Amino acid sequence: MQLFQFFFSAYPKRTILVFIAVTIASVITAATLLALPALLFSLLGRDSAKTQFINEALVYLGIPPSAENLIIFLLTGIILQNILLASANIYAGFTTAKIVKDLRMHLLNATTASEWNFFIKQSSGDFTSSLTQEIEKAGDGYGNMVLIMATFAQIIAYLSVAFFLAWQIAVVAIVTSLILSYFFNKLIRASRQYGRNEAQLVRNIVSQMSDSYRSIKPLKAMARERFSHEIIANFTRKIKRLTRKNTVASELLDGMQEIVLMATVILTIYFAFKYLELPFEYSIVLVILYLRSMKLFGKSQKQLQAYANNQGAFEMTQELLELALANKEHRPGHKKHVLNGHIELKNISFKHGDNIILKDASATFHYRKLNSIIGPSGQGKTTVADLICGLYQPSNGRILIDGINLERMDIRHWRGQIGYVTQENTLLNTNIKNNVTLGDQSFTDEAIYRALERAHCREFITPLPDGIHTQVGENGNFLSGGQRQRILIARALVHSPNLLILDEATSALDMETEQSLSHVFKEISRDTTIISISHRPAMMEVSDYVLAIEEKVLIQK
Ligand SMILES: Nc1ncnc2c1ncn2[C@@H]1O[C@H](COP(=O)(O)OP(=O)(O)OP(=O)(O)O)[C@@H](O)[C@H]1O
Ligand SMILES: [Mg+2]
Repeated sequence: MQLFQFFFSAYPKRTILVFIAVTIASVITAATLLALPALLFSLLGRDSAKTQFINEALVYLGIPPSAENLIIFLLTGIILQNILLASANIYAGFTTAKIVKDLRMHLLNATTASEWNFFIKQSSGDFTSSLTQEIEKAGDGYGNMVLIMATFAQIIAYLSVAFFLAWQIAVVAIVTSLILSYFFNKLIRASRQYGRNEAQLVRNIVSQMSDSYRSIKPLKAMARERFSHEIIANFTRKIKRLTRKNTVASELLDGMQEIVLMATVILTIYFAFKYLELPFEYSIVLVILYLRSMKLFGKSQKQLQAYANNQGAFEMTQELLELALANKEHRPGHKKHVLNGHIELKNISFKHGDNIILKDASATFHYRKLNSIIGPSGQGKTTVADLICGLYQPSNGRILIDGINLERMDIRHWRGQIGYVTQENTLLNTNIKNNVTLGDQSFTDEAIYRALERAHCREFITPLPDGIHTQVGENGNFLSGGQRQRILIARALVHSPNLLILDEATSALDMETEQSLSHVFKEISRDTTIISISHRPAMMEVSDYVLAIEEKVLIQK
């Protein structure tokens, strides 16, 4: 989609308002420009048929058409024109801020609402740089579009006046501009491609940075952190080359413009004087008009170049948005049901690509009991939990919640009843409290402390000077692995879920802590269904039911 189409269709009122402002400004410009020869004629005490109507207009307004009044008319026009243009630019600035905010929210909403399978295949770097740099640049396109509109409106005003005074000059200016536009167009198009390429390289750098930061410790410990340096350095070198190319294109446009413009100006003035035999008063005005309109034309080409670069960034972010929208999670079910019975898998089959994980598997997870799933690594334990959360959908079979097919249920309402401790224990780079509540202000301190208490976090939080307000660092690096895991357990408990899924939730804990936590889970299972994926003896001992994944089916042990 073209950026200007997007602006006009998404922000029609604002854009039309700005358009009207620049159009009025250009009409005022034309009027003031006509007042200039009228002033000259008036100063020389001569009459001119072509500017006579300006004098008549002043008389009509009750103002004597003296030189002084013409000067006041001229200055008022210039002031009005600039006030209008400045207002249009300020309003465009406000609109840009709104556009950037809206684009960010669109992309964020589309991303978070996409299918899980699509989501995990995307690079976080693409979203991060799209959300920050690309959208910012696309928003700048609005400011540039308004500048282009204003410049073109001014050019039209200048050319109209030139046409009125001596049409030959206006025709020469139009023809010259069209020929030049044809040659500059290539440089402008290159700028759009540059915008795209630059955005892609920045995405690569951001992805590489976030990936290597996440796993920097082993890389540093093995003195292999330079591996990512090399990759990033490579992208950076490419950006440097691109920037140099773009600088050359931009300077070429500048230099060529200056030479060609000045050459045509000199030649046009020469021929105009020689062959058109214009009166002196017109000539001065025409030279000003021609020079100004060609200068404005040059300015418009620079603005078009900047705008083309914005267009490149806009296309990149738009493609990502469209991809996310095309992969929107579609779950038509709308039944809001609160869990109060068994969760059953009935003849479920599921594949990850060509990799068959479950084949005609059936199982029951008992209500308010501690159900364990065991099985060798890579057999599909986590996949079973993800199927129950509706992150994946089985190719065959049904998942029943109290006998209701999960497909018929409102998926977000169902997920709202789940507490999930995943295998990966990374925290958000904020304080302990926010890691538990995920920023949800509706949790009382009492609920937060209760969840932390149950997850055995108290012993390491109490000695901290800032308590639950202690920052945990990037990925929770300021805490030990076991402490991070316990905060994640507290997060899964804070909203008192009806179903608690524990995927290797105690793997990082010492035996003693694990033992006492397993008793906490046992106690929780009195009023909460628990599905625990674990091989650890402590969790096995407290389990009411054990299911094993063997040969792509679930077997009751
Ligand atoms: N998103 C995915 N796309 C493709 N294959 C996947 C995906 N997620 C998991 N797999 C594959 O599916 C299989 C089952 O994965 P799953 O995570 O369910 O195993 P698991 O039993 O939990 O293993 P572990 O005990 O190691 O955690 C594995 O072979 C894995 O490589
Ligand atoms: Mg797993």
